[in-house]
Amino acid sequence: MKKVLMLIALGLAQNALAETPAQFVTQYSAEAGAGFVADAARGKAFASRNWGVSEKLASCTACHTDNLRNPGRHAVTGKAIQPLSPAANPERFTDPAKVEKWFKRNCKEVVGRACSAAEKADFIQFAKEGK
Ligand code: HEC
Repeated sequence: MKKVLMLIALGLAQNALAETPAQFVTQYSAEAGAGFVADAARGKAFASRNWGVSEKLASCTACHTDNLRNPGRHAVTGKAIQPLSPAANPERFTDPAKVEKWFKRNCKEVVGRACSAAEKADFIQFAKEGK
């Protein structure tokens, strides 16, 4: 009995950390405000937009390509990047710390500011659909 309870507690603890892409979309959408509905087409436009902040890193697609099911490549270092779409890479959008860390870094570099909750929701919606 004790062992069973331990396993349940462990399972719950893991659930609290791991999330699904759909949960991220729901959370960021709620943060974006009442009535907000994430939109993949808007996410695609956001990802491919040239923000004019960095010449080499003009858009998210500069490293992640315009089809997020494809592997990407770092536009400066040439280092390979696994696909961002959870359809091609099940590890994507499951770890809140990782998601926030990279949104923070990449948004600052490309957009020149933090991304809004609405932009994050749209981007993940686009990533879920892949292209
Ligand atoms: C300079 C190249 C580069 C650009 C430009 C770039 N990224 Fe990334 N991105 C990376 C790298 C490198 C990683 C982390 C390595 C990995 O997880 O494969 C990453 C990871 C991520 C992740 C983590 C997802 C997860 O759950 O693993 C998100 C979200 C993300 N990027 C969003 C964006 C957005 C939004 C933009 C545009 C505003 C953008 N990226 C532009 C290189 C880039």
